[in-house]
Amino acid sequence: MSAFTAVDVIRTKRDGGVLSDGQIDWVVDAYTKGLVADEQMSALAMAILLRGMSAPEIARWTAAMIASGERLDLSPVTRPTVDKHSTGGVGDKITLPLTPLVAACGAAVPQLSGRGLGHTGGTLDKLESIPGWRAALSNDEFIAQLRDVGAVICAAGDALAPADRKLYALRDVTGTVEAIPLIASSIMSKKIAEGTGALVLDVKVGSGAFMKNVDDARELARTMVELGKAHGVRTVALLTDMSTPLGLAVGNAVEVTESLEVLAGGGPADVVELTLALAREMLDAAGLPDADPAAALRDGRAMDAWRTMIRAQGGDPDAPMPAANEVEVVRATDDGYIAGIDAYAIGVAAWRLGAGRARKEDPVSVPAGVVLHKRPGDPVRVGEPLYELRAEHAERIPAALAEADRAVRIAPAAPAAAPLVIERIG
Ligand code: URA
Repeated sequence: MSAFTAVDVIRTKRDGGVLSDGQIDWVVDAYTKGLVADEQMSALAMAILLRGMSAPEIARWTAAMIASGERLDLSPVTRPTVDKHSTGGVGDKITLPLTPLVAACGAAVPQLSGRGLGHTGGTLDKLESIPGWRAALSNDEFIAQLRDVGAVICAAGDALAPADRKLYALRDVTGTVEAIPLIASSIMSKKIAEGTGALVLDVKVGSGAFMKNVDDARELARTMVELGKAHGVRTVALLTDMSTPLGLAVGNAVEVTESLEVLAGGGPADVVELTLALAREMLDAAGLPDADPAAALRDGRAMDAWRTMIRAQGGDPDAPMPAANEVEVVRATDDGYIAGIDAYAIGVAAWRLGAGRARKEDPVSVPAGVVLHKRPGDPVRVGEPLYELRAEHAERIPAALAEADRAVRIAPAAPAAAPLVIERIG
C-alpha cells in the first residue's frame, strides 16, 4: 500500500502547496507505470501550470523523470561531448549544419532529436528527406558513431526518460505544454539522461516560439541552466529571436538544401550567424575555445563531416532533393520595405502545405514548404516575388496562402534591425 494518493498530490498543488520529494518521486514513477491515470496527471499538469513550482520541486521532478529510464554512458567516446537543444521554431534547421561543424572542430555531438508537431518543424523529419537516412539507432550504434564520426543526429530510444515521453504527449492535448517547470524538466531530463558533458540551449523568443516574451524565455533559460549545472552538465543558454523565420526555407527538403548551402560556405546570413554563435558556445563549453568554426565552414571540413555522418546512417548525401509538383509564387502588390515576416504565420502556412503533421502518427510531405524571396529590411518593388509555396497537391495551397498572406508586412520605411542573439545566460 503506497503512502501517497494521486488525489492528495493534485490537491496539494491545486491549493498552491509545495510537493514533497516523496510525492514527486511517487507520482512520476506511478504515472510511468500506469498506476496514476492520464486524467489525474492532466489535472496535476494543469495545477503546475497555474501554480508553478519552486526550484527544489523542479530539480526533484527532473531527477524523477531521469530515473524513470536509462542514463547513457558516453565514456567510450574519447572526444569531449557537447550537445545543443533548441526550444523549437520556424525554419530552425540549425542542428543540421551545426552538428557536423562542431564535430569537424574536435568535439563529439550526441544529438537526440525530435519530430515536428504543430507549426514547429522537427529535425528528424527534415533529415528523412535524404533517401536511405535512418533516424532509429540502437544505443550501441549511437555510441559507436559518436566515437568514430563525432556526430550523430537520431531519435531518442524508448528507454530514455519514458516519463517525459508519456507526459509530453498528454500535455500536448491538455493545453499544458507552456508550463515553464514542465518544459524545463522535459528538455533537461532527456539531455541529462543522454549523457552529454556540456550543453548549449537555444531558447527561442517571439511569435514562432513557445515563449512569446523575453521575461518568460529568460526564466526558462535560467531554470534549465541551473538544472544542467546541478547534474554536472556545463550548460549555457542563448536567448534568440524567433519573431521572423530563420533563413529563407521553411519545410523539410527545402531546409536540408539551405543547410547544405551553409555547409558549403554560403547560405542566409542569419542562419550562418546563429550556427557560428552556437558552435562557438559549444566548443567553449567542450573545452575547445581555440577552434575556428568559421574556417571549418570555409575549408570544407564541416561538409566532409556532414557527408560522413549522413552515410553512417544509411543516407545518400548526393541524392537530389525531390521537387514539389505545385509551386505558387506570390508577388508584391506595393513598393516599400519588408517590415516584418511573422514566424508563426509562416510556420502554419508550411504546416498547411503538408510539411508538418496534425497528429503524431501522420506522415509529413518531403517537398512541401515555404521559400521566402525577401527578408525583413529588404527593399521591394511591385511585382517582385515575395515568397513561394510548395506542395505535393494543389488543394493544399489556398489555406497556406491565407496564412502566409498575413505574415508579410510591407511599409514605406525599413524597420530598425533587431538582434538575432538577444542575451546569454551562463
Ligand atoms: N521540447 C521538449 O522536449 N519538451 C517540452 O516540454 C517543450 C519542448
